Amino acid sequence: MLIKSSGTGFIHPVSSEITSRPIYEDRRQLLRLMAGGAAGAALASWAARDALAQVQRPGKLAALTGGKSGVAGAVTMEKSTDYKDASTYNNFYEFGTDKSDPAKNAHTLKTTPWAVEIEGLVKKPGKYALEDLLKLSAQEERIYRLRCVEGWSMVIPWVGYSLSELIKRVEPLGNARYVEFVSQADPKTMPFVGSNVLDWPYVEGLRMDEAMNPLTLLAFGMYGEVLPNQNGAPVRLVVPWKYGFKSAKSLVKIRFTEKEPATAWNKAARQEYGFYSNVNPNVDHPRWSQATERRIGEDGLFAKKRKTLMFNGYEAQVAQLYTGMDLKKNF
Ligand code: MTE
Repeated sequence: MLIKSSGTGFIHPVSSEITSRPIYEDRRQLLRLMAGGAAGAALASWAARDALAQVQRPGKLAALTGGKSGVAGAVTMEKSTDYKDASTYNNFYEFGTDKSDPAKNAHTLKTTPWAVEIEGLVKKPGKYALEDLLKLSAQEERIYRLRCVEGWSMVIPWVGYSLSELIKRVEPLGNARYVEFVSQADPKTMPFVGSNVLDWPYVEGLRMDEAMNPLTLLAFGMYGEVLPNQNGAPVRLVVPWKYGFKSAKSLVKIRFTEKEPATAWNKAARQEYGFYSNVNPNVDHPRWSQATERRIGEDGLFAKKRKTLMFNGYEAQVAQLYTGMDLKKNF
């Protein structure tokens, strides 16, 4: 996020000092070749894929592979961002406000044991251990664009399942209209919690129909591995048609409410970060245009900016959620 500094000007994103290492792309290419070859049928099995991943895993974290997603729009043909870029150019303000801070500092995050509390207007509230959440539905790989409100984007192969699977299990009551997502806020392991940038914990929210949309992902992994801490381990939200800040990391609570949740960025700067925050090239941020974006990994003197797409390119899947709404007012 860009935040107003107390002095002049703003804190701007720093350029990533990253060398490209497209291991993930190589692995995918190899898998495609294997799948097309004589031994394709056997080798293309997920077990074989796992075995290969052991050799070429991008971040050397535990493998977490899933079957290909069947959800419409969940796979883009665009080249995935290099793992190194995706895991070292992050916003995770609990660990600092510089893009390089989360990768440097998030090793202190303690992800075991981990549980997510389901609260509020549901028939089946309770504490769900991470292990049980992982087993709740089949893991899928989904390659989503992530467009940050600051004007950069990435393409990330996430692993997880639709949040709707969890929501159906906990049986929301008839008056549950919103879902609130609360991130971990432990000052002992998250050095920036306690700073006055945000009112901690980091809270986000969705309307129930947005939360139930099959694109909304509860993610446990990326690039065939468990999430690195800096990307929101061990479990986070990914809402690909909204600006990146809606995708809350390291979730500890999911609460079902009747009223629209008060979200962290909305509380910090109401005029700048609305509740909906749908990616929309026609509605500028009060301080900058949202018409174009810079794809991380495509930097360079002559790199062209990309046009930002309505709903980040997921219009066919989600536009109907907003029929009749004024998206300039409900930004
Ligand atoms: N979640 C928490 N808890 N804290 C944060 O600071 N930053 C958000 C979002 N989720 C943030 C968060 C923002 S601004 C973005 S762009 C995405 O995480 C970045 O996700 P990534 O690091 O996986 O690219």
